[in-house]
Amino acid sequence: MKAEMYFWLEVSVVVLSVQLVTCQDPDLVRTCAEYKTEVWDETSEFSLLIEGSAPIYKTEDKCTSYAPLIIGGGPASPKEFPHAARLGHRDEDGKTIWFCGGTLISNRHVLTAAHCHFADEGSVNIVRLGELEFGTDTDDADPEDFSVKDHTMHPDFDYPALYNDLSIIRLTRTVSFNEYKHPACLPFSDGKSDPSFVAIGWGQLEFVPRRGAETKKLQKVKLSNYGTRCSITAEKNEQLPNGYNATTQICIGSSEHKDTCNGDSGGPVLTYHKTFPCMYHVMGITSFGVGCDTPDVPAMYTRVHFYINWIKQELAKT
Ligand SMILES: *[C@@H]1O[C@H](CO)[C@@H](O)[C@H](O)[C@H]1NC(C)=O
Repeated sequence: MKAEMYFWLEVSVVVLSVQLVTCQDPDLVRTCAEYKTEVWDETSEFSLLIEGSAPIYKTEDKCTSYAPLIIGGGPASPKEFPHAARLGHRDEDGKTIWFCGGTLISNRHVLTAAHCHFADEGSVNIVRLGELEFGTDTDDADPEDFSVKDHTMHPDFDYPALYNDLSIIRLTRTVSFNEYKHPACLPFSDGKSDPSFVAIGWGQLEFVPRRGAETKKLQKVKLSNYGTRCSITAEKNEQLPNGYNATTQICIGSSEHKDTCNGDSGGPVLTYHKTFPCMYHVMGITSFGVGCDTPDVPAMYTRVHFYINWIKQELAKT
């Protein structure tokens, strides 16, 4: 009797896990594993000192977490967010203004908010990767600037409304991956059941400029999933004429005063990869910041999972 119960229990566990696996997009799962392998699997060759014997290869998995799980917030650790991008405009005199964030999602593409292309500072024509603290070269970082070849905004983005607020920027050359620079994985799920997210950025929101200056150091903060609570807070206005849309946007906030902003517009909100501690998923794009440092006033983020097919299509273009 007992054995039979266990048998059915096992069967249902198997069925459940098969279901969980099948709703993940196999392309995304594979690509994510490839990125992880490319940076963190180290293969070394041994040769037995026997003549004519084939060499033996041993692969070591160096994928570990670079920082303890985030509680609250603070400055990011070196190599903790190797997909973090900062977007700016460089003028003819070589002077650069940085005004948006982004996420590296392939060796050539950066995901950001479409409204970043409407900034007063100018067009996005430069992307910095591998950076930790701006204005210093003594930090443990590997900063490199990339020029922008072109960008594609989501076809349904209709500025100043902030629905479908996402864009893919194409760099003029490919990024060589290392521990300081490599992509985040695309989402395996829509994020509705994730209790919390990690937001990162250099601390400047376009809509609500931070008191004082932006921070020079990349900041991280743990924020909570507010579910549908944005429908209460989102008043109708020209940015959100139909209010919060829970299908295409994520509502994220914090009940405490956090000492960092939600992050740059265009930057990511992330979840940890379930099995690779060195990898993150970009679940959302910072889109509409209502308040900075105001408890219980959530902000809205583009729900990346809703746009997976469009993103895949753009990444496949040559
Ligand atoms: C939310 O956005 C989706 C996709 O654009 C749309 O089909 C849906 O009607 C929207 N829902 C509301 C309540 O506006």
